[in-house]
Amino acid sequence: GAPETRTPTGVPTDYPPETVGQQGAYLTTAQGARLTDTDHSLKAGPRGPVLLQDHHLREKITHFDHERIPERVVHARGAAAHGVFVANGAAESVTKAGFLKRGVTTPVFVRFSTVLGSRGSADTVRDTRGFATKFYTDEGVYDLVGNNIPVFFIQDAIKFPDIIHAGKPHPDREIPQAQSAHDTFWDFVSLHTEAQAHAMWNMSDRGIPRSYRMMQGFGVHTFRLVNDAGETVLVKFHWRPKLGTHSLTWEEAQLASGKDPDFHRRDLADAIEAGAFPQWDLALQVMPDTPEETFEGIDLLDPTKIVPEELAPLQVIGTMTLNANPTNFFAETEQVAFHPGHLVPGIDVTNDALLQGRLFSYIDTQITRLGGPNFAQLPINRPHAPINDMLRDGMHQTAVHAGVAPYKPNSLDGGCPFFAGADEGAFIDIPVTVSESVKERADSRSFDDHFSQVTLFYRSLTPIEQQHVAEAYAFELGKCYEQAVKERQLQALANIDADLCATVAAALGLPAPAPTVEVADVEPSPALRQVGEQWPAE
Ligand code: HEM
Repeated sequence: GAPETRTPTGVPTDYPPETVGQQGAYLTTAQGARLTDTDHSLKAGPRGPVLLQDHHLREKITHFDHERIPERVVHARGAAAHGVFVANGAAESVTKAGFLKRGVTTPVFVRFSTVLGSRGSADTVRDTRGFATKFYTDEGVYDLVGNNIPVFFIQDAIKFPDIIHAGKPHPDREIPQAQSAHDTFWDFVSLHTEAQAHAMWNMSDRGIPRSYRMMQGFGVHTFRLVNDAGETVLVKFHWRPKLGTHSLTWEEAQLASGKDPDFHRRDLADAIEAGAFPQWDLALQVMPDTPEETFEGIDLLDPTKIVPEELAPLQVIGTMTLNANPTNFFAETEQVAFHPGHLVPGIDVTNDALLQGRLFSYIDTQITRLGGPNFAQLPINRPHAPINDMLRDGMHQTAVHAGVAPYKPNSLDGGCPFFAGADEGAFIDIPVTVSESVKERADSRSFDDHFSQVTLFYRSLTPIEQQHVAEAYAFELGKCYEQAVKERQLQALANIDADLCATVAAALGLPAPAPTVEVADVEPSPALRQVGEQWPAE
């Protein structure tokens, strides 16, 4: 089960790198000078004072002082594993991506995470989970940076700092850690009602997964694929766990938080060590690429909506197996840098305004988190494809670049084969038509139905799952101090489902308000049941 050191077409990779054992007959300084004592500082006499000239003391303590790097601003708490992805070829008709051709095996690194808690927070809190996959393909790195919930809180990245500020601990008391049990969270989602869908998924059993091995993953946004003939389709990505999708009960989640805050981290590492390698199928929902970018009335640029599977069934395009634990948590799990803009030929973004903001945010934050612009050189982030960029210098540069002319074309360093006219194998942005008016802030599309898909989701749940949802709202809202916030969230629930609203209102000891919109008249449908239901184990 060791990770591949060559890509399928034989491109050598330097992953895993030579590990440094930090063992040997004698200790040295970082400069290689042999030491005799690392336990006593140099003193003026046996009782001191300690001398500033003790260079080993200073090196040892100074390095320790700088061991920590900033945690991720979101998704700080995570666990990761290496593995392989094997494509079954079903995507060949819709994308030219080489790693999705039949039988191609690609090394991957996957990091699972909670969103809101800090690095040391508990694993089993009620939260969204990150599901980020780095594919080291022959055509460059492709990152699928998804979540275990298929919708997102907001429709435009400009609100991302706001929803995260609302969800993170209160600025005065720095509580609560990683729970939606507080006023600012419910204040935000009841005022910005496009967040009601994601909030309902969080209140459902999906908010407390049993294991990272038993979680679905979703790309959330709609992406655009292009095939060899230049034809495009719009798609949504889904990971389906072979073990089925399973959740904890709230009581189990609370007990695990206390007895073993590392519950998910331990579960993943132990399973892989025991050879019980977790697997996921990767599947696509394929929609035609029309000028409206809608499908069956659903705006595909709206990341707060799903496309029901009965309208666009899942097509499995390959299988991922996680088969090796990281060797060093810091070097791999902590230093890995995902980015939705790491794309390969055949996969492109859409104009989803949430996705477009992400395209800026990830590299920007990683420049702070990883100390400068050269983090692509870190072993875990290195592509397994030949690199020929023109980037130079910067903090933590480890390459010794040869040549004098880092610009193209040039007449000094052997010219530029790239601009000989050959596009073959290159990433070419797919041209799309944009609206004629520029500088619009408002959405010109139908993004303003905030409730009917939430009703659909709630009514697709089984009675026991619905009971869990009601109990979760009652628990989390019960932790709020502000009555006005509770009342405004009950108003949103009234617009989703009268029974749910009445149950939660009764638990909070508040009256159930009447709806202010026409509540969607939906019966549970088989396809929605698939989204809402636990996947059966295979
Ligand atoms: C980190 C998913 C929206 C900014 C992450 C991670 C995941 C993720 C899985 C953790 C990556 C890791 O394990 O290292 C998503 C999904 C989104 C979303 C599925 C919506 C569909 C956004 C938006 C922004 C954003 C809108 C900003 C505009 C960030 C930042 C990080 C992050 C700054 C930390 C990255 C790092 O420090 O390496 N996101 N995210 N995300 N996300 Fe998002």
